[in-house]
Amino acid sequence: MAMYEQALIDTAKALVAPGKGVLAADESTGTIKKRLDSINVESTEATRQAYRNLLFTTEGAEQFISGVILFEETLFQNADDGTSFARLLADKGVIPGIKVDKGAKPLAGSPEEKVTEGLDGLRDRLGEYREAGARFAKWRAVIDIADDRPSDYCIHVNAHALARYAALCQEAGIVPIVEPEVLMDGANSIERCEAVTDRVLDRVFDELKTQRVLLEGMLLKPNMVIAGKQCPQQAGVEEVADATLRCLRRRVPAAVPGIVFLSGGQSDEVATAHLDAMNKRGPQPWVLSFSYGRALQAPALAAWRGEPDNIPAAQQAYYKRARNNGAAAEGRYSP
Ligand code: 13P
Repeated sequence: MAMYEQALIDTAKALVAPGKGVLAADESTGTIKKRLDSINVESTEATRQAYRNLLFTTEGAEQFISGVILFEETLFQNADDGTSFARLLADKGVIPGIKVDKGAKPLAGSPEEKVTEGLDGLRDRLGEYREAGARFAKWRAVIDIADDRPSDYCIHVNAHALARYAALCQEAGIVPIVEPEVLMDGANSIERCEAVTDRVLDRVFDELKTQRVLLEGMLLKPNMVIAGKQCPQQAGVEEVADATLRCLRRRVPAAVPGIVFLSGGQSDEVATAHLDAMNKRGPQPWVLSFSYGRALQAPALAAWRGEPDNIPAAQQAYYKRARNNGAAAEGRYSP
């Protein structure tokens, strides 16, 4: 890591440059199929390429997008003009990233919970990804909330794996985005989400420290503190902003340069409003920005519907989400 220390710090900072955030376009083959099914487009290598080409060639989006997380297939795919997607992005000043986990699988001994796999062979894969142009990576752990979940066991193994992944990334000169996602699908209150997120972050930073991860050379990608979707009492924007900041300020060391939120199923407008509200509260120890998947892409996907004629409208929709989130990353979004 010592070899790459300054490069890691520089890349992490560049990913959270003022008014910029990350596009998560790293849907696995299974997830992108769901997204394409929703617009009645068959998921094939060609349609996946066409969709990603649409996003990455959107003119001007690079003013607001510092980096793009790619799925492995996309990292090794070419744009319509024959350049690799990684090169196309880098030429626009957008940093290519790569999802490196192999998905969340049932946890032995507690099969209703999940543990993210993908550590075997990771050192070798990271070398290949760096060679292909990737300078940052993502690993997502999934924690769900129910009456008797998450268990300490589930939190522990996921935190341990996140730290192992992060240490391997830094050794390879790749900035790890550490993503412990507490899901917002349940019926839990915002208070319960705060308590669980607090426990998870506490454990994650404990493991990162034990495993000698350079905090200055990583980013955290957390959920916001929010009521579960099935909860009858939904919190307002200001309450979410306060609870999320309180939780992060307790648990995330100031050495971490940036926190890039996932959207996790929030509507695109709401995800923007939450980020904006947090940044309107003034400077925090770390930059607060976005690493949205659905909240950046949903309107573009809906506008495209797989029709070449709809590409300009889809790009306009994506540009608008990128611009608004860029503004929210500086607390100057007005709906
Ligand atoms: P969402 O913003 O759609 O939650 O996706 C972000 C992501 O990368 C989840 O791993």
